Amino acid sequence: MDAINDTLSSLGVYREGMPWNPVEKIIMERRSVRRFKKEMLPDNLIRRILESARFAPSTGNGQPWKFIVIKSPEIIAEMERDAAKITKFFMFFYGYTMFKGLRRMVSKIMANFSVMRLYKNEFCTPPFFAMTQAAEDQTVYFHEAPVVIIILQDKRGVSNPSVDVGIAGEHIVLAAHSLGVGTCWLGFARLLTYYPKWRKKFGLNKYPYKFGNCICLGYPAYKADREVPREIQTVEWHEGSMKDLPRYERQGE
Ligand SMILES: Cc1cc2nc3c(=O)[nH]c(=O)nc-3n(C[C@H](O)[C@H](O)[C@H](O)COP(=O)(O)O)c2cc1C
Repeated sequence: MDAINDTLSSLGVYREGMPWNPVEKIIMERRSVRRFKKEMLPDNLIRRILESARFAPSTGNGQPWKFIVIKSPEIIAEMERDAAKITKFFMFFYGYTMFKGLRRMVSKIMANFSVMRLYKNEFCTPPFFAMTQAAEDQTVYFHEAPVVIIILQDKRGVSNPSVDVGIAGEHIVLAAHSLGVGTCWLGFARLLTYYPKWRKKFGLNKYPYKFGNCICLGYPAYKADREVPREIQTVEWHEGSMKDLPRYERQGE
């Protein structure tokens, strides 16, 4: 059995009580980095990180993605400005927590009954809070990173291509951290898709691509990576016959 497993991974096999292996360590200790050194990443390092994405699994091996690397400070600054601008526009109508009196009341009703239903993922609490901050110029979306990678999703992908894009993106994130490069996913980059100019620039206006997601990268300006507590989660285990009830285990205790 060990001989078979030994051929699977050069890191060896599981032994009871063993410490995290190097792959697990990166997974457990990786944190989103939101402050970077100005220093540019060498192209070969970026290419190396992208190799991990290229080797990601995908449904039917369809590889429904395209990567766009942005290294230009001018372009990233313009993306930042435009993301902030569109946030201000949204928050003018829907940022009721920023207003008082009648405007707050009207804007809360609009937010609750229209946009929060149509865009419930964008306007649930954490993004809503971040957008409120961005509208007040208290935060930046692209974290002043030297490199931004946009992942386009090929609409022709088999089954659910957004899962494939997520896996490819996480390969980027984990490979980068293992090579000393900090990353942060940037779902908010989607805000740029409201601009025809960005849709054209990144080829989102043409079949078969749409915005998949976005990740910023750079050398961290502080020590970010460390293990942090995560919520304990209940996992359902089915081990017996069809008639047996599942066993519930609190994962993480
Ligand atoms: C798909 C996705 C989109 C995200 N979008 C953003 C974002 O736009 N801005 C940001 O600062 N963090 C973003 N994050 C990072 C999460 O906030 C972060 O992963 C979470 O708080 C857990 O923290 P950790 O990454 O340090 O473990 C995103 C994460 C994922 C997976």
